[in-house]
Amino acid sequence: MAKSFKYVILGGGVAAGYAAREFSKQGLKSGELAIISKEAVAPYERPALSKGFLFPESPARLPGFHVCVGSGGERLAPEWYQQQGIELILSTEIVKADLAAKSLSSANGETIEYQTLIIATGSAVIKLTDFGVEGADSKNIFYLREIDDAERLYEAIKAKNNGKAVIVGGGYIGLELSAILRLNNIDVTMVYPEPWCMPRLFTSEIAAFYEEYYAKNKGVTIIKGTVAAGFTANSNGEVKEVKLKDGRVLEADIVVVGVGAKPLTNLFKGKVEEDKGGIKTDAFFKTSVDDVYAVGDVATFPMKMYGDVRRVEHVDHARKSAEQAVKAIKAKENGETIEEYDYLPYFYSRAFDLSWQFYGDNVGEAVVFGDRDPKSAKPKFGTYWIKDGKVFGVFLEGGTPEENKAIAKAAKVQPPAENQDQLAQEGVSFATKL
Ligand code: FDA
Ligand code: NAD
Repeated sequence: MAKSFKYVILGGGVAAGYAAREFSKQGLKSGELAIISKEAVAPYERPALSKGFLFPESPARLPGFHVCVGSGGERLAPEWYQQQGIELILSTEIVKADLAAKSLSSANGETIEYQTLIIATGSAVIKLTDFGVEGADSKNIFYLREIDDAERLYEAIKAKNNGKAVIVGGGYIGLELSAILRLNNIDVTMVYPEPWCMPRLFTSEIAAFYEEYYAKNKGVTIIKGTVAAGFTANSNGEVKEVKLKDGRVLEADIVVVGVGAKPLTNLFKGKVEEDKGGIKTDAFFKTSVDDVYAVGDVATFPMKMYGDVRRVEHVDHARKSAEQAVKAIKAKENGETIEEYDYLPYFYSRAFDLSWQFYGDNVGEAVVFGDRDPKSAKPKFGTYWIKDGKVFGVFLEGGTPEENKAIAKAAKVQPPAENQDQLAQEGVSFATKL
């Protein structure tokens, strides 16, 4: 017999956990809500997987990083869901969605019906096997998305102690995983095609700091302007070499690939409107289909501040979009309205002793300030992006909590900044004075 719920959240990641907490705050009856996840565990703070989970000493483990600890909230362990009467349907992959019949079918033949559906399926990694890269299915080539991936990588790091790793990709995963593997005493070479790391966000000046810090302070070898074109394996099928497109060959015991992610929208192709690769929503995360919402990585939503629509693959938006959708669902039931989502983009990363935050939009001219010397005891520098004479985006490495708050405010209020020399000189104090 089919199970039936008033609300179903499809996906058991960050957005699902924050949505569950919001349902509970708004008032939920036992048995009304189910979360379906192909992962075997209750929602957790995914960013921990590329950070604390892989630390050589006292690594983070569940239940330590269940949501909502990442934003300073209560930790929702599996018992919390039980107490709330929320059903966690774990280790269950949904393979078919029938939006007309309001039902979902799982790989093991179960049917789950809903009145209101929240799609929170997140993203899947892009794999080198997707492009037919030779040998890309060898053992010890890792991707990192879910806790099982992190566990396998952790075991390999232990098994290949003092070994060699090649990190393919110069984005978030590339930079965070290179750092973690160095902390684990592994020899690390990063390979990426662009002229500098994190090119979607970093300017060449910002990237130069991180590349020099990684290379000179931490001994990471960086190879730019080429890609992994193939892999060879030993007789056990374990990766042995990475063949680069430029002809070089690198030895490797472990390969970690971070070449981007794609939103998991495939179940809903042709059933909901899409935009920019994601599921199109309004400012309340409602899709083109009644009673179907989409949140987190999969949603393409109106970015009120900038008058366009975007998809955002970061944890802050996953949390906030989930809360907004639940508030909107409950308001609709009560015949009330809520404010439109008005999101200020916020991205961050941490690696080694470094920590940066970015708020706003990286458009216009970039004005760099501060101490960008990787040899400094405590480097602190940043960048303002100026468009139409106003601050649009701010990046800060090494900021205090107060300074990070101040740059968020600057990106939000967009103060005029006509004199770029003065701005460069004032640095972060321009933001703290606002
Ligand atoms: P999320 O990926 O969290 O959850 C999706 C869930 O849906 C998963 O449990 C998945 O198994 C499940 N699912 C998918 N399809 C399903 C199906 N058909 N049936 C059943 N279940 C299904 N961001 C940031 O701002 N700062 C950071 O430091 C980091 N760090 C970081 C590290 C790593 C390793 C990753 C992979 C990602 C980050 N991120 C990040 C990005 C951030 O974690 C991401 O944007 C959010 O987790 C998105 O939340 P969602 O709930 O949308 O998807
Ligand atoms: P990304 O988009 O940040 O970086 C992908 C990088 O892959 C590019 O910068 C490029 O250097 C490289 N690349 C592309 N094709 C390549 C190829 N053929 N060979 C070598 N390099 C190639 O994606 P990611 O780092 O894989 O991260 C995956 C997802 O996880 C994203 O959604 C990201 O937002 C999320 N994530 C976020 C954080 C954070 O916010 N701190 C941390 C980890 C992961």
